[in-house]
This record gives sequence, C-alpha cells and structure tokens, in this order.
Amino acid sequence: MDLKSSPIASPLSGSYRPPGDKSVSHRLALLSALAEGTSYIQGFLDSADTVATAMATEAMGARIQWERGPNGLELVVEGGDLHPPQGPLDFGNSGTGIRLMAGVLAGLGHMPEFAGQCIELIGDESLSRRPMMRIVEPLQALGGDIEASEGHAPLFVRPRKLTGQRQALKVASAQVKSAILLAGLNASGSTQVSEPTPSRDHTERLLQAFGVQLDRISETEVSLLGGQTLSPGHFSVPGDISSAAFIMAAGLLVPGSKIVLEHVGLNSTRDGILRVIEAMGADIEVVGDLTGPGEPIGGLTIKSTPLEGVTIPAEWVPLAIDEFPIIMGMAAMAEGETVVAGAEELRVKESDRLALMCSQLSKLGVDVEETHDGAVIRGGQLHGGIVDCDGDHRIAMTFAVLGLVAESPIIIRDAHWMQTSYPGFVEDMNRLGAQLEWLAS
Ligand code: S3P
Repeated sequence: MDLKSSPIASPLSGSYRPPGDKSVSHRLALLSALAEGTSYIQGFLDSADTVATAMATEAMGARIQWERGPNGLELVVEGGDLHPPQGPLDFGNSGTGIRLMAGVLAGLGHMPEFAGQCIELIGDESLSRRPMMRIVEPLQALGGDIEASEGHAPLFVRPRKLTGQRQALKVASAQVKSAILLAGLNASGSTQVSEPTPSRDHTERLLQAFGVQLDRISETEVSLLGGQTLSPGHFSVPGDISSAAFIMAAGLLVPGSKIVLEHVGLNSTRDGILRVIEAMGADIEVVGDLTGPGEPIGGLTIKSTPLEGVTIPAEWVPLAIDEFPIIMGMAAMAEGETVVAGAEELRVKESDRLALMCSQLSKLGVDVEETHDGAVIRGGQLHGGIVDCDGDHRIAMTFAVLGLVAESPIIIRDAHWMQTSYPGFVEDMNRLGAQLEWLAS
C-alpha cells in the first residue's frame, strides 16, 4: 500500500512511547526458548520480524502464550524442551532472526534430538539477497556444519558439538558477534569475539540477565565459557530508540514542535542517533529514570531546532547503524553539508540504503552525492514527489517524516513494509499531529 505524507502547518506535540526494542525482542524470544522453565516477557515488539523469530522457536517446541498488553505483546514462554522443527524456519525479512538462530542451532548437537538433523532457515526475497558468509564462516570455524546457498539464505544447519575459539571480526556487527556467542553457549571451552569498534551489546546484557557468566574483557571483546545453562526470568523490553528516531526527527524538523518521549532504551551502544542530532544542533533533554533487563531506559524531550550539517565520525556509525536513512533525511533539511563515511555496511541492510536514500532524495531535488562508503548531502529545500522504499521499512518511515516538511506531499510506494519493525508508525505520528494517509491501491 502507498502512503501519502503531507506538509503540515501546525507543530507536532504530545507524549510518545516507542514500541518495544526489536533487537531485544528477538533475543528474548531465543533465550527464553533455550532457558529451562517459564519466562515472562513484557512489551515484546509486535512486528512481523520479531513475531517470525518467536514463531520459529514455537516450531522447535517452545510453548508460548501470546497476549496483547498495554505496550506490545506479553509472552509467557515455556522453554528448554526443544526439538528440530518439522519444516523450514521462515524468518521473513529479518536478518537478526535468521543469523542469531543459525548460531543457536549450530551448537545444539549435544542434544540427541538435534544430532544428525538438517534444519533449513529461509527468508523473503530481500533477506535471501543479504550476505550470510559473515556468520557461516565463523560458525564453521567453531566446527559447525552450516551451508549457505551461494552465500545467501536458505541456510542449512546440521547441529554439532562445537569447540570454542577466538574470532576477530573485521567489521563491527552485533548480529555476527551474537551468532558466535550463541553457538559458543554449547561449545566446549571458551568462545571469544573481538570487534574493531563496539556494536550493540544486547546479547551480552541479556545472557547475563539469564544467568550466564560472561567476561567482558573490554568494550570490544567478550568471552564466554560453553556448557552454561540459562535460567528463566521476568523481562521487560525497553522502547526502541531506532523507532523513536523517526519521531525525534519529525519533532526536530517541524517548526514549533515539542515531543516528550518516554521509556526509550538508552543503551550507549545504540544511542549514536543522539550524538548525531546533538552535533547537528538539536535541543534535547535526556532524563535516565529506569533500568530494564540490564538496559538503561530514560525519557527525552525534543524541541524543533534548525539543524546544521555534520561530518559523522566513523566510530559513531555502528552506534547508529539503523538510523542512517533518517539521518540522511534530516541532512537534506539541514543548513550546509553532511558527510557520511565508513558506512559501507548500509549497502547490505534491508536494501542498499546508501544507493536508495541518495537516489530517492535526489528525485526530490536534494543535492546529494553517493560515495563508495557513504554520502555527501547538501541541505536545502525538498520538493514533493513519489518515492520507492524497495521493501525497506526504515526508508519508508524516513520519507513519511520528510513529507511533513517538504514543499508538497510525498507519496511512498509500498510503505506497508513498515510493519516489519513498526506497525503502529502511522497512528503514532498522526496522534502527534502528522498527516499521513494510506492510499487505496
Ligand atoms: C542488529 C544489528 C545490526 C542492525 C540490525 C539489528 C541486531 O546489524 O543493523 O537492524 O539486533 O543485532 P549488524 O549487526 O549486521 O550491523
């Protein structure tokens, strides 16, 4: 379905609580399925991606009671008693789901039900284009029996007994780090992962919350001893800062706006967007007030601010990796030049985000230059028009925000892809005063 986003004359205002964090929800689904006993999860993200991961665990014997709660889904998960699924596990659009589950499965060879079985992991067209050797190679190095089809999904995993090892990643990636750690949970000896710069550390924090002993050697290196069991518990999911980023951008861009964001996950390995908008001149007030499952949570007040272009330091890139579509969108409205570099990973997300953002911004009259690992954007006026999101939820939401401040409406083709991470986006934006409207196709 196409979405029309029209320029608005009045400011956005109100309070807003983002939906549950996608990364944390995926991990809670997997870890509570592995833990022996009953886990209770509040605020689980009700989106296509995270539900696909939870359903994959159900296909492997986790018993889940699903209920709708005030802030997403409430799951009661009876874990521990797993068996191989009857058919392929389908992760839809989700890179996190398929990569983390591959790590879990690779190491389950110590369970008699899994030994000698072959499990197929599949995804949609976009996921089947994304690179999988980045997890296949390290898992093979631990002794895993895993194959990809010419480097892509479908993946075929035959669970084995693995041997712990030290892996040094060339690119900071929480998905790769997590796949290795999850495989290492059942490997003999210790499994160690190092990265060039820190990536999000939800797996480490949640493993600890499930009672696993981890050695966080430094900001970029972690090690765990195999053979540990997970203890179930009660968990509450923080609000997703990556979803909140679209609302923050709308609040910054629409003149006169003031939005109070509540219950936002403020993990310092995820808050690169705050550093970027502050560097662009944003007026934000952060109040840390709660602690979730080892995750800092807080409130933010965003007031509209004229933004300035910024050169984004390369070490901030992994800390804001999912926010680059909206950062590039804000750059289009900022005064001066914004330079993004060291961000080639954006080419292997749900779309080639560098190429797509540059081509679609340029369709709307923005002065933008794509480079091999980033972009240079010179902000100014943005006219309306029709843009494609190529099945990428975050690009759809970015142009929905930009339509509020363009010279005329922006129509986003196939914007329904937002449901992969944020099904309530249109309602949440309209509640704050936006004018987003689904168009009958
Ligand atoms: C994620 C890690 C990031 C991010 C993705 C979610 C995770 O991917 O882009 O949306 O939950 O671990 P990479 O680890 O591949 O950078």
